[in-house]
Amino acid sequence: MSKGKIKYMKTKNHKVVITGASRGIGKALADKFEENSNEVIRLSSKDADLTTSQGRKNLISTLIEKHSDMTVFINNAGIQVNGEFEKLSYKDYNKELEININAVVELSKGVLPILKDKKESALINVSSALAIQPKSDAPIYCGAKAFVRLFTKSLRYQLENTSIKVFDIVPPLVETDMTNGRGKGKIKPEALAKEF
Ligand SMILES: NC(=O)c1ccc[n+]([C@@H]2O[C@H](COP(=O)([O-])OP(=O)(O)OC[C@H]3O[C@@H](n4cnc5c(N)ncnc54)[C@H](OP(=O)(O)O)[C@@H]3O)[C@@H](O)[C@H]2O)c1
Repeated sequence: MSKGKIKYMKTKNHKVVITGASRGIGKALADKFEENSNEVIRLSSKDADLTTSQGRKNLISTLIEKHSDMTVFINNAGIQVNGEFEKLSYKDYNKELEININAVVELSKGVLPILKDKKESALINVSSALAIQPKSDAPIYCGAKAFVRLFTKSLRYQLENTSIKVFDIVPPLVETDMTNGRGKGKIKPEALAKEF
């Protein structure tokens, strides 16, 4: 199979674990998976704070202990901080890096042992159209999403001869709390989930 060729998989009867599923895109994806006869475990910041290393470690332990039968894992949780880069505090931009990059890397690594022994499984990371066409007031976010896009693509190549399919979702502007009061021409999260 050539590098990056799309691999299809069945879409029913999976156990799907999704971060950031309390609202927005994650909730819409979770609802869609459930509608399509999949069991869905919905995570939010109440289950684990993904901006902290400890939160991520705890979550990985929980996944290994309680959800080692999962066949799909979705790295969806994310935050976006807007403003002038020069004025951003370390706390703000570091949180953005932690959840948008470190959580994706560490959780991807943490779930690989679970996914690799399944007949068919998938790792799905949520990037953004801003990874391709960045906007001026969110340089950390845009850079982080570009990281997610290339990280995911590279991992797809690395795992292409395994049972794990690696996908990224590259949403356009979607109407969620993240984009509240910003931008025009937003699509509904449900419309995005339907396309996926
Ligand atoms: N909206 C867009 O236009 C758009 C476009 C492209 C890509 N995306 C990406 O799509 C994903 C979802 O975005 P969204 O618009 O649906 O965002 P959202 O409505 O703001 O929802 C964010 C989700 O992430 C969770 N989350 C936030 N901080 C967290 C933390 N510290 N630890 C764990 N979970 C945390 C939230 O949980 P709580 O409810 O517990 O806070 C919530 O479930 C993100 O990766 C985003 O970058 C969004």
